[in-house]
Amino acid sequence: MKLPPLRLGELTAVVPIIQGGMGIGVSRSSLAAAVANEGGIGVISGAQIGFEEEDFANNSAQANLRALRDEIRKAKTLSPNGIIGLNLMVAMNNYKEMVKAAVEENIDLIISGAGLPTDLPALVKGAKTKIAPIVSSGKAASVITKMWEKRYEYIPDMVIVEGPEAGGHLGFSVEQLEAKPRVTLEQLVKDVIEALKPYMDKYNRKIPVIAAGGIFDGKDIAKFLKLGAAGVQMATRFIATEECDADIKYKEQFINAKEEDIQLVKSPVGMPGRAIRNELLERLENGNLAVKKCYNCLKHCDPKNTPYCISQALMEAVRGNVKEGLLFTGSNAYRMDKILKVKELMRELVQEAEAAYV
Ligand SMILES: Cc1cc2nc3c(=O)[nH]c(=O)nc-3n(C[C@H](O)[C@H](O)[C@H](O)COP(=O)(O)O)c2cc1C
Repeated sequence: MKLPPLRLGELTAVVPIIQGGMGIGVSRSSLAAAVANEGGIGVISGAQIGFEEEDFANNSAQANLRALRDEIRKAKTLSPNGIIGLNLMVAMNNYKEMVKAAVEENIDLIISGAGLPTDLPALVKGAKTKIAPIVSSGKAASVITKMWEKRYEYIPDMVIVEGPEAGGHLGFSVEQLEAKPRVTLEQLVKDVIEALKPYMDKYNRKIPVIAAGGIFDGKDIAKFLKLGAAGVQMATRFIATEECDADIKYKEQFINAKEEDIQLVKSPVGMPGRAIRNELLERLENGNLAVKKCYNCLKHCDPKNTPYCISQALMEAVRGNVKEGLLFTGSNAYRMDKILKVKELMRELVQEAEAAYV
């Protein structure tokens, strides 16, 4: 059966797939526009997006704002009719300025996690930009919606629920991630829909709930749609695409990774993450790493007491320094074995999902 489109107010994505934002630099205009051109929602990651600007090392705040505007414009030129979103982590120091610049560039959607985006409605006020928090529990969905309603008379345009199999930073403690059995994305999706139901009833409007984390193929997509999700967010699978904005050596690590290479890692953001094992992770275990330069990126990072610089590690990775870079990944990366065009990947996902969505 045909998949239901994902509706966000006046915006419609004919394919209910959001390509998750991937920092630093892994999802920029090339990947986001390619996904948007296939009817999904393409998402640029705003995390240290200015890392290739000449003045980044000494003037990162301005470099990031400049590159952000530039990447949004490029994506909109490459995909004039597609939906382009921006992922911004609340934990970043320049969060507010970046939101404002993106709104001025008429970004369609802002997705925010790594903390609760408590002030986001005020920052986009008067604009058409849609806003979506990322949560990891029904409780968090309830807290942010209640807060937005009380403070701004605004309820989320969409809520993304990210489960324990996701890549990047995870909204769970190490204990929760190592618990057996651990919480499933299926359960979390049900909890979030339940938590948002009173608001959907009160405002007589659907709040699309998007499932994210470990979604690999069309069967997974169909499963979450049947559970009541309005769509899915997928990131890791889009790394193994030609249009992904990272170096080819980076992409190759993902298609060559084995299941046992994928492990949890501590991050200076204060949340655990998941990454492919490499020299960096080995050195981290042996404790012989230190921060050489601080880019002042995170609100709660003390460079003296942090084992490594997350910005440096992610910048190394995207440039192809796969030994010293941090290779964030979802738990399913080991199932990928080739690099596809976004068009091929989207077609495969939609065909499989339609076959399973009955
Ligand atoms: C390399 C990489 C970088 C990521 N960077 C970010 C980020 O900057 N901000 C964010 O909110 N999520 C980030 N994520 C999470 C994704 O947007 C997505 O929600 C998640 O990875 C979905 O799980 P999947 O990769 O198994 O599909 C990242 C994920 C990966 C794999």
